[in-house]
Amino acid sequence: MAQIIDGKAVSASVKEEVAKEAAALKDSKGLNVGLAVVIVGNDSASRVYVNNKKKACEAVGFQSFEYALPEETTQEQLLELVNTLNNDCKVNGILVQLPLPKHIDEKAVIDAISPDKDVDAFHPVNVGKIMIGDYSFLPCTPAGVMRLIESTGVDITGKQCVVIGRSNIVGKPQAMLLLQKNGTVTICHSKTKNLKEICLGADILVVAIGRAKFVTGDMIKPGAVVIDVGMDRDENGKLCGDVDFASAEQVAGYITPVPGGVGPMTIAMLMKNTLTAAKQQAGIQ
Ligand code: GUN
Repeated sequence: MAQIIDGKAVSASVKEEVAKEAAALKDSKGLNVGLAVVIVGNDSASRVYVNNKKKACEAVGFQSFEYALPEETTQEQLLELVNTLNNDCKVNGILVQLPLPKHIDEKAVIDAISPDKDVDAFHPVNVGKIMIGDYSFLPCTPAGVMRLIESTGVDITGKQCVVIGRSNIVGKPQAMLLLQKNGTVTICHSKTKNLKEICLGADILVVAIGRAKFVTGDMIKPGAVVIDVGMDRDENGKLCGDVDFASAEQVAGYITPVPGGVGPMTIAMLMKNTLTAAKQQAGIQ
């Protein structure tokens, strides 16, 4: 039976580290850390995420600046706001919640965020830095996954690591981070042949494919570390992950639950990136 990786506990310890450092910066340098969160339109899931980000800012002692813009906001207006935030010294990090309404080009908006304030690490400059291992910010979800793997005490060096999913936000950067820790990395996706055989060879399996209960226990190597990035609904509308938890926990060595696994880590790593941004902008390493 697998050991459950407690994402809430690991996330709380990251936030505690961040809160302590933010308080020390305030005391010693008079520095207030600030995060601007921009949301356009009325997507209800986005609204929940943005509220959680605001709450996390309060919990770690950051200022948060929310910009809730109407659905009909033009791309030009949004770019103007991003430009204003780029030049606002109270704002250390800028997060534009995705998805944006269809009439707005997401890429143009991401490209407009100053790479120094891009706490999502979505800007091409930051993506490129991850590729060469010279980064300030790591994308929040893959960075959170790395902390969860670290919490198991399992050393990644030389391990067979399989990532299912090739998105720019999770799969691709996740593979790079595992590679930097000396894993032997395979990236799988919807067109991969022999997926089951590849998964069965994985010592560390990260699943980010966006299909409910896609990975079952018979696809998992006994004792493997299984990290489930999915956030799906099952046939009864209940929240579940990309891994069939009930069968997987019989085989895996360590496994993340959904909810309570990767989810809480994403916001904790966002707080950590915002602190890093503030320190860099103040010339503190
Ligand atoms: N929408 C869903 N997840 C994310 C995220 O991590 N960052 C942003 N900006 N938008 C999202």
